[in-house]
Amino acid sequence: MAQPKFTGKVEWPVTIELNKGLEGAITCESTIGYVDGQKGWLVYRGYNIFDLAKHSNFEETAYLLIYGKLPTKKELDEFCSRLVSYRNIPRAVIDALKLLPKDSHPMGALEVGVSALGACDEEAEPTVKKMFSGEPDQISEGIKASYKMGEKLTAQMATIAGAWARIRGGKEPVDPDSSLNHTANFLYMMTGEKPDETLEKVMDVSLILHADHGMNNSTFTCMVVASTLSDLYSSITAGIASLKGPLHGGANERALADVLSIKDEAGAVEFVKDSIAKKKKLMGFGHRVYKAYDPRAKVLGEYAQEITEKKGVGHLYKIANTIEKEVIKAYGEKGIFPNVDFYSGTIYYALGIDVPMFTPIFAVSRVAGWVARVLEYLPQNRIFRPRAVYVGPLEADYVPIDKR
Ligand code: CMC
Repeated sequence: MAQPKFTGKVEWPVTIELNKGLEGAITCESTIGYVDGQKGWLVYRGYNIFDLAKHSNFEETAYLLIYGKLPTKKELDEFCSRLVSYRNIPRAVIDALKLLPKDSHPMGALEVGVSALGACDEEAEPTVKKMFSGEPDQISEGIKASYKMGEKLTAQMATIAGAWARIRGGKEPVDPDSSLNHTANFLYMMTGEKPDETLEKVMDVSLILHADHGMNNSTFTCMVVASTLSDLYSSITAGIASLKGPLHGGANERALADVLSIKDEAGAVEFVKDSIAKKKKLMGFGHRVYKAYDPRAKVLGEYAQEITEKKGVGHLYKIANTIEKEVIKAYGEKGIFPNVDFYSGTIYYALGIDVPMFTPIFAVSRVAGWVARVLEYLPQNRIFRPRAVYVGPLEADYVPIDKR
């Protein structure tokens, strides 16, 4: 059959505007969380992050994000019991992790672990079928099953990260301890030791602060995958892959590496000067949405000062704080301030946590936001499908390979 020849120029049915990095693009309506980048506000379901950091705990915050309200005592107890009951992961997942090279990136290991979890969950594929059936009863069952999977993932991400922290160090994973809350148990599974009160409190606050953050790259990635009606494990695996990048969750390790490479406060001043002269991006600074001080960095900055002093590495806070002051002096007017990744690395380091585990800790928290956002979107699902502006030729003549 004769094919029509493409001629002319690319024409669009509507006026298009190219926003690099999808800046300003709106994906959906949501009641989960709000970031006001001008005022430096972060809100989960109406509650401001300072109140949650002060009064809540990770389990309650995860419930709030996923179910849309602060739980009653009974609801929270039942939610915590379910999370505890989901903590154990199938043997096959541990075996899959053990097959990986010990120096694999922990976020890669987390991706493998969550994919393997999905392969082991016999409810995953039937849920996809229900969601795809088009029948309201089946869809509502599918959504119910997805909530269960979301709770499992919230519990089990910590188990996988804990297991990998042990395996990469040549140690056997430890079984979860049902007498411990989510944060204490996560730390126990990573280190093999029950945490002291300080370590548990700081980690819990950090998990609260990292749990959700608007339509960030990894959340959007999860939603893009979920919008095809793929299963929740696949969607969360994709989110982990996104969070791994140094422009997203991977910045905390790099921010710490900068702090550790500097001897003293004078060195910090030099470091910032040099980075500016070389037009190097400063890790742990800047944000697509915040043009004011990131409230999460405010909370973590205070903890960083307290913890580094307590642990005898107060000079690290002084160096970090000098970097902060110098960067704000140079770039504050441009809206560049510390973000959540700037102080978290210094805190984790002072607490003795292995540096490669920093980004997985972020994922162990963010899974709550990922799950909440995907589950909120599913009932109003429409597949995500943006377009690219084609700027290539239209009229090229196909040349056989022996004539090129
Ligand atoms: N250091 C120096 N200059 C910066 C920085 C920085 N960290 N961040 C942004 N800028 C400048 C950038 O050079 C550009 O300047 P100009 O307009 O003169 O060319 C302007 O600010 C806008 O930067 P952008 O890269 O176009 O901004 P973006 O919205 O595309 O990127 C970002 C946001 C977070 C990727 C970026 O600020 C960055 O690369 N920061 C360092 C990495 C980092 O800390 N990432 C963690 C983000 S917070 C946790 C999370 O959500 O994952």
